[in-house]
Formats: sequence, structure tokens, C-alpha cells
Amino acid sequence: MSKITAAITAVGAYVPDYKLTNKELEGLVDTNDEWITTRTGIKERRILKDPEKATSYMAIKAAKDVLAKRKLDPAEIDMIIVATATPDMSVAATAAHVATEIGAVNAFGYDLAAACSSFLYGMSTAASYVQSGRYTKVLVIGADKMSSIVDYTDRTTCIIFGDGAGAALFEPNDEGLGLQDEYLRSDGVGRNFLRIEAGGSLHPTTQQTIENKQHFIKQDGRTVFKYAVSSMAGACEKVMERNNLTNNDVDWLVAHQANKRIIDATANRMRLKDESKVLINIEKYGNTTSATIPLVLNDFEKKFKKGDTLVFASFGGGFTWGSVYLKWAYNS
Ligand code: UT7
Repeated sequence: MSKITAAITAVGAYVPDYKLTNKELEGLVDTNDEWITTRTGIKERRILKDPEKATSYMAIKAAKDVLAKRKLDPAEIDMIIVATATPDMSVAATAAHVATEIGAVNAFGYDLAAACSSFLYGMSTAASYVQSGRYTKVLVIGADKMSSIVDYTDRTTCIIFGDGAGAALFEPNDEGLGLQDEYLRSDGVGRNFLRIEAGGSLHPTTQQTIENKQHFIKQDGRTVFKYAVSSMAGACEKVMERNNLTNNDVDWLVAHQANKRIIDATANRMRLKDESKVLINIEKYGNTTSATIPLVLNDFEKKFKKGDTLVFASFGGGFTWGSVYLKWAYNS
């Protein structure tokens, strides 16, 4: 009997219409298009302007996109993971709301919080459930309304982040395609360098925490950058080495889109000489946290061929990071 593997069988996405350009940011903080473009690769990001709409609004749209593409009855979905750093609310799982709204009446769901690595960790979780034989249709949605936690007077963060959602369906595969291997890690040292200080159990929200702007995301960009490059590149090397993959074997690098320079440095360490293998869409969306990886999958889906080798990489708050080796399972 052949081993069951877990493959991605459909992807979908949603980004809000509003484009926050570098030009517009020049009017908000002391920055300029040239600095942002050369230091990050970002030209614009999408913003969910409607204050009534939250992360789930985008997650639902991305999920419905997957269902439509796969021509799937939502009642067939077994499980929904919403990877997010910006759930609609604390305590009430966003995934439960998403499941109900899309008609996934036979599913259970929960949120997965590992900052920018949430989607990558979610892929691992989904694949493990499918490989176990317990569930056959697991939907992983990466969605973040970063504009809800960004301080638009802080030039070190507001130029980076954007809003969006992407999703991927995992199903069993009997041809050996899908997730092959993973290398996932975390290091609590990171909590000093990238975080929202207040609003959690350590510093519950008070008048004071709001006045101190501790409800916004803050980072020591330079330190995060250094850790991101060495960790992401190291994880990719590890996965390649133990699966005997050379640079020529890798068809596509699907990396978390935090900064184009971080992705380029990772690709260099992997010796990916052909730039077209390094998938980049950061110029359009900025860093959408949990949504970057599925947004890349959705944007470049038509390029992927059945059997292609994809190496995924991510790095985020915590710190959390890792790499996944996956064989693509369909031609679109
Ligand atoms: O998703 C995972 C988590 N996040 C990341 O992975 C982000 C990692 N970090 C980064 O992407 C980069 O560190 C940033 C894009 C945040 C910053 O780029 P950098 O090249 O590391 O800049 P820096 O912090 O070293 O600052 C260089 C200079 C400073 O001025 P001085 O001290 O040299 O005079 C900053 O004050 O650039 C200044 N600066 C800016 N100038 C114009 C910082 N932000 C801006 C800005 N516009 N927005």
C-alpha cells in the first residue's frame, strides 16, 4: 500500500481594492518612494478601509475562491485553519466564524498564531491531519488585517505592512505528490524585537497602554532582518540537504514576503541563479503577514506544473521560522 501524502489541490485569494502607495505614505511620515523601494521592494499595499470589516471578511472571500475553483461543496470540508496575527476578536476563534459563513457545516476550525510563519506552520498541521488519514479536506487560510495594528505615524512599520488573504486546500494524494519534508523552528529571544506589547495577558489594555501606543506593532527592524536572513536561508539549506536537492532541482522558491532583500539573500544562499525561480509579489501587497505565502501561490499558480519542486520559507515574530519542501500536484 502506498503512503498517503497531502497535496495542495486548489488555491485562492482576496485583496482589498484600496491601494496605499509609497507616494501617499510620503504624506503621512518622513519617508520617500526611493527609500521604500530600494530598502524593501514595496511599491504599494492593499488596505481594507471599511472599519466594519475585519480579517474574517478577507478570509471568507479567499475560502470561497478556493471552493469555486475546486467546484467543492463547502459541506465536504473537514477542517479550517485560519492562520492569522490579527483575529477578528480574542477568544472567539475567527475560523469558527469563517466556517459558518462559507457553509462548512461539517467542519471544525481554529486559529493558528505564529506571526509571519502562521501559514507555513498551518501547512504542516493540515498535511499531518491529511496524512494521518483522519481528514481528507483541510483548508488553510492565511489572512491578516495588518492596518488594524499599524501605527501610521511610525515610519519603521507603516511602510511595510498591508492587508490580504490567501488559502490552500490540502487533500490526500496517492502519487507521492504534496508535502515531502519540513524544518520548523522557534526561538523566544524574538519576543523582544517584534511584538505588540499590550492587549494580552502580560499587559492588558489600559488607558495608559493606549496613550503609550503599546497596542501597535513595533519592531527592531535591523535585528529582525539579520535573524530573518540567517534563519530562513539556514532552514532552506537544511531541507535541501536532507532531501538531496541541488539548486537545479528547485523549480520555485515561495518565500514569505517581508522584504525583497531578505528573499534575495535567501535565494543567494540556496544558489538559485535563475531569478525567475524566486517568486516575488511584495511590490504589490507589501508584507501581509500570514497571507504572503498563499498570495504568492495564487499569483503564480499558472506557472506551476504537476511534479514541480517548491521550497517554501518563512520567518516571523516569536521568532518563528522554517522551510517546507512540496511537490506541486496539478496543472491549472
Ligand atoms: O515579517 C517578518 C518581520 N519583519 C521583517 O522581516 C522586517 C525586517 N526588517 C526590515 O525589513 C528592515 O529592517 C526595514 C525595512 C524595517 C528597515 O530597513 P533597514 O535597511 O534595516 O533600515 P534601518 O532600520 O537600518 O535604518 C536605516 C536608516 C535610519 O536612519 P539613520 O539612523 O541611518 O540616519 C532610519 O532612521 O533609514 C531610516 N529609516 C527610514 N528612512 C526613510 C527607517 N525607516 C525609514 C523610512 N523612510 N520609512
